[in-house]
Amino acid sequence: MHIFLIGFMGSGKSYWGQRLAESMGRRFIDLDSVIEEKQKKSIAAIFEDNGEQHFRELERQELGRLIEKPEPMVIACGGGTPCYFDNMLFMKQNGLVVWLDPTVASLEKRLKPEKDKRPLIRSVPDEQLAVFIEEKLKERIPFYSGAHLHIFDEPFTLEKILQQIKDAN
Ligand code: S3P
Repeated sequence: MHIFLIGFMGSGKSYWGQRLAESMGRRFIDLDSVIEEKQKKSIAAIFEDNGEQHFRELERQELGRLIEKPEPMVIACGGGTPCYFDNMLFMKQNGLVVWLDPTVASLEKRLKPEKDKRPLIRSVPDEQLAVFIEEKLKERIPFYSGAHLHIFDEPFTLEKILQQIKDAN
């Protein structure tokens, strides 16, 4: 069974995903990186050149390819992955979906210095970032909340995440 990490941009999906994979002896896959490698372009450039809809189609395509692999992996999704097509249902049918859900204040702190990499927030002024996060999160919670596990008790630790995964099995 694959483990899918979902959550808002800056929620730590790649950071915790790598640690989780290491401790479970699994392969770690970052969905955004797979897309960038295949397209030989950054996510920002894909949005700019081909538009968001095209990115969402690539995201869905790669998700489908990864899921077919028999080896159980830890997969860090993009922040929007669960919110398009039937991606969430598809992930839930093929693994354990874990929602990393830090506070808006934590997200803001982490995203502020990394806005340029992220087309959805790169033009949001710093002083409007928290409001933007709150609003976007509100739109996305109905999708994220379908996850099997909800991790929100900060600070996150590998032990806490592993324990919740163990309890779910
Ligand atoms: C997106 C999140 C990004 C990336 C793209 C769109 C989103 O991934 O997939 O910029 O819609 O929230 P991260 O959550 O890894 O930043």
